[in-house]
Amino acid sequence: MDASMLEETIQNPNPYPVVAAPHYDDVWHLCQQARDLAWDPARDIDWEQLRGELADLPGEVRAAGAEWWSLRAWMEHGATPYGAERFRQAVFEHLPFEIKQHVANFIQEELRHHEASYRIADVLGGYQPSPRSDYFKLVIPKFHDEKEERQMSFYAGMAVNTLFEQLSGELLTARYRNARYEGIRKACKLILRDEARHIQFGRILMKRFFEALDAEEKQMLGAKFAKKLRGSLLNGVYSVVNLVEDERKRSGRARALAAEYGLGATHPDEEVEIIANALQQIREDVAPYEVPIPRIPEVEGESDPPARRVAANA
Ligand SMILES: [Fe+2]
Ligand SMILES: [Fe+2]
Repeated sequence: MDASMLEETIQNPNPYPVVAAPHYDDVWHLCQQARDLAWDPARDIDWEQLRGELADLPGEVRAAGAEWWSLRAWMEHGATPYGAERFRQAVFEHLPFEIKQHVANFIQEELRHHEASYRIADVLGGYQPSPRSDYFKLVIPKFHDEKEERQMSFYAGMAVNTLFEQLSGELLTARYRNARYEGIRKACKLILRDEARHIQFGRILMKRFFEALDAEEKQMLGAKFAKKLRGSLLNGVYSVVNLVEDERKRSGRARALAAEYGLGATHPDEEVEIIANALQQIREDVAPYEVPIPRIPEVEGESDPPARRVAANA
């Protein structure tokens, strides 16, 4: 066959070279852990028991819980299109097998977080496939903006994404502690176990790739982190602080009610405190790589963030 013909028949993405030689043993280790620690939301949680335990809660509380866990389900689902784009990019860029495997695991794991969350919403009185409030309909799609992602390199973008996983992990830890019902508690615990691996992946990427970034790129990463946090995640996803007034009140009330009854939720005031502390921790984590995270006035106030705490064992 003549070479010009061959060019036409090669599909895009051209898969060759299909890289199989392992490059990153620490990433491969995470992949092995993911295989060992796989779980099944349908089987590993006793849904009938949970249904029985929640049946007698007041209608208003069940509705608040269903709304809250529907929101959790949308958030978890929001990570899957992001993951799909990263998988596609990993194939296009001929990245090593363990990177593609981790991204595929990430998609699968976020999907099971989604599943566990919509099942809880269902038991509480009904999963809502679309937000009832118009405002939320606009917020959730802003969760993933591929144009923004494409301005970063694959590894830098994924590392930035895991900073959000760190933040949501801190919130989920508080929600795990809040959960009074075994089924909800277990779901939170199993989700957290997966998230710990996602966060670890980010730490590996930072260690391996952040040294090579120049000051301008580091500045951009910090700015992107702040932009996404303020532009979508504080608008009802991580916290209600940036929601429009009436929606902030309504949504905040529902969350407070779900937290009061131990449905694996957090009170809006508690959320702000957790986010502020997590931001401090994230700044410490990225400090060795000199990635500047701008101040987030909604949660940290208008003055400069407090000086970085020095860990006792540093
Ligand atoms: Fe998740
Ligand atoms: Fe995650």
